[in-house]
Amino acid sequence: MNLNKLILKWYDKNKRDLPWRKTKNPYNIWVSEIILQQTRMEQGIYYYNRFISKFPNLESLATSEEKDVLLLWQGLGYYSRARNLHHTAKYIYYDLDSKFPKSYDELINLKGIGDYTASAISSICFEKKHPVLDGNVFRIISRIFGIKDPIDLNNSRKVFKKKAIELLPNSRYGDYNQGLMDFGSMVCKPKNPSCSNCFISKKCVAYKNQLVDSLPIKAKKNKIKTLYFEYLAVNNNNKILIERVEDGIWKNLYQFPVNISTSKKNKTEIRKIFIDKFNLETLDFKLINSEYIEHKLTHIIIKSNFWFTNEKIDIDEGVFTTILEDYPMSKLMHKFIEKYRSKLAYSEVKMVN
Ligand code: ADE
Repeated sequence: MNLNKLILKWYDKNKRDLPWRKTKNPYNIWVSEIILQQTRMEQGIYYYNRFISKFPNLESLATSEEKDVLLLWQGLGYYSRARNLHHTAKYIYYDLDSKFPKSYDELINLKGIGDYTASAISSICFEKKHPVLDGNVFRIISRIFGIKDPIDLNNSRKVFKKKAIELLPNSRYGDYNQGLMDFGSMVCKPKNPSCSNCFISKKCVAYKNQLVDSLPIKAKKNKIKTLYFEYLAVNNNNKILIERVEDGIWKNLYQFPVNISTSKKNKTEIRKIFIDKFNLETLDFKLINSEYIEHKLTHIIIKSNFWFTNEKIDIDEGVFTTILEDYPMSKLMHKFIEKYRSKLAYSEVKMVN
C-alpha cells in the first residue's frame, strides 16, 4: 500500500480530537495554524480557545485594537504572529470584502502567511493539492527515505518539497497533511519514536540502518548569545512609567524603559547610561532584584536587572499607570512584576547591593 494510503488509514483511526477540527472555516484554521507555529499542542489548544472566544470571526478580529490582540497573545511569544494576524484580518475584511482567499497563490501573498500556512489552509479548508512541510514532515520524510540533506538549509527544502509533492494522495489533501503531522507528533517523534509499533518501520530506511536518532540532520549549530537588559522602573506618585516598544520582537508591547547591551555593566556604568539616555542631572536608583532575572529565547539568553527610581523622567510614548494589566507585555516583564509587584508601588525600596 502507498505511504499516503497508510497515513490516511492511520489518521482515520488515531486522529486527535482538536477544537479546530470541528470546522473547515478558514478563519478558525488560519488562527489555529498561526498559534501552533513554535507552540506546544497543549498550550496551543488553550490559546486557540481563548482567542476564538474573544474573536469568534474575521469581523471581530478586524475591528479590534491591536493592543487587545497582543494582550490575548501574552505569554505565547513571537508576537509578530499576532501583529500579522491582526493586519491580515483587517485586509481581508476591508479590502477583500471579507472574502477569504482560497488558493495557495493568493494566500501566500498575505502578510504572515508563508508556504506552510498557505498549504495548510488551502488543503484543509478547500481541498487544494499542496503538501505541508513542518518540522514533523521534514522528520518523517528524512527518516523513511534516509535523506541526509540538512533540513535547515534552503537548498534542502527543495529536495524535501519535491518528495512531499510526490507523496501526495489523489484526494483528501487536508486529512493527509494533518495525518502526517499527527503521525509525526504521536509516532515518529523527535525523541523516543515508537518504531516498534510503527506500520512503516519495515520500509523505513532510518529504522533499518539504525539512523532514527541521527535523522533529520541540522547544519547550523544553535549559537546562543547573551544580552544584558537593564530596566528602569520609574515611580511618579505611585504610578509606574512604561513605554511602547518601537521595533523588534516585542514591537507594540509595553515595558519599563530599558538599556540593552552585549556586556555586563556595573552600577556606575549603568547610572551613566541612564543619565545620558534620559537627559538627567543625577540619578538616585536602586536594584530591586537580588540576582539577574533570566529569560531564554530561541537564540538569546536575556539577563535582566530591574532598577527603581523616583526621579522625574518623562519619555515619548510613555504612560504612567497603576494598572499594568491593561498593557500587553513580554513574559520577562510579567516574571518580574509577579515577583516584585509590592516594591513597585512604594518609593522605599531596600537596596540589595
Ligand atoms: N500542528 C500544526 N498544525 C497542525 C494540524 N492541523 N494538525 C496537527 N498538528 C498540527
